Amino acid sequence: MLAVAAIAVALGVAFYNQTRPRLTAPERGRRLAEATGCYGCHGPEGTHGTPNAGRSEPTVPDWQGSLMMYADTEEDVREWIRDGVNKARRESESWKAARQSGTLRMPAFGKRLSASQIEDLVAFVMASAGRPEPTDSMALAGRDRADVLGCTGCHGVGGRLARPNPGSFKGYVPPWDGADWPELVNGKDEFREWVEHGVSNRFRQNSIAMYLLRRGALHMPAFEKHLAPGDVDALWAYVEWLRSPHGSAAAAPAPPDSAASTDSSGVGRG
Ligand code: HEC
Ligand code: HEC
Repeated sequence: MLAVAAIAVALGVAFYNQTRPRLTAPERGRRLAEATGCYGCHGPEGTHGTPNAGRSEPTVPDWQGSLMMYADTEEDVREWIRDGVNKARRESESWKAARQSGTLRMPAFGKRLSASQIEDLVAFVMASAGRPEPTDSMALAGRDRADVLGCTGCHGVGGRLARPNPGSFKGYVPPWDGADWPELVNGKDEFREWVEHGVSNRFRQNSIAMYLLRRGALHMPAFEKHLAPGDVDALWAYVEWLRSPHGSAAAAPAPPDSAASTDSSGVGRG
């Protein structure tokens, strides 16, 4: 009896692990930013700052190009969100005057959100700014091709998001640095199959997998006719970089005060 119960529990745990959603930090941050009101001032997904009457910068900064003028490091981004200002600017009289003159002011979210929620927002802001970025030219080329080919529309900026895909097995488009990846892509050959044909041979031969894939509203397109020579190699180089410790903003050493934010939700990076 006990052995049967133990097996049932083990199978249950295995099934749960297979089917439960495993969102990455940037995707949790994207959803949280919507729920926290950030987009009211920074625009949808932080792409389009709202006009800020009274201030010399005509709009609230976005989280792409203009982030560079406000934040050099991940820690700067964390300070902006937690404290409403970063350390470098806090002491500046001219910044205080500029802030005072604008109608919109960055709130401090440190008391409203937990440390791990702030880490998720940091991960999303960093991903939106395309940071960190690869140093290797092949991986950089792959990142740029993913934009040009339209991959990042569905897979999100840098392939780091998990946008909703209603009806699909997990409920989202799988991110390239997510924990679901190894179940879908066992190496470069399968990656090529997904990109060229919109599905891997392994999945195509599995009727249950195909049944589940077809239920989603969004489907991975076949890009075979639209790829330039070398595209798959470059995209693969980018994905390998993204899945390495270098590709993850959160892999950078955390400052001591964020120890409480260590995330236990099982989001893997490879
Ligand atoms: C009431 C409007 C408002 C809201 C809501 C708001 N911000 Fe801001 N945010 C600003 C303004 C204005 C600045 C410019 C800061 C300055 O120089 O005073 C800013 C600056 C920032 C910066 C640094 C510069 C940059 O490029 O964006 C980050 C990061 C940021 N906000 C993230 C967030 C996040 C995350 C949220 C939601 C949790 C949020 N903001 C909500 C107005 C807002
Ligand atoms: C129309 C939305 C869409 C576009 C555009 C798109 N994908 Fe996908 N992709 C998906 C979906 C949805 C899946 C999950 C499988 C399915 O349901 O078809 C997927 C799965 C994948 C997988 C399997 C592994 C995983 O975890 O993501 C890879 C690899 C992949 N896509 C790479 C790419 C690349 C590279 C591009 C651009 C050349 C691209 N995708 C463009 C929607 C898209």
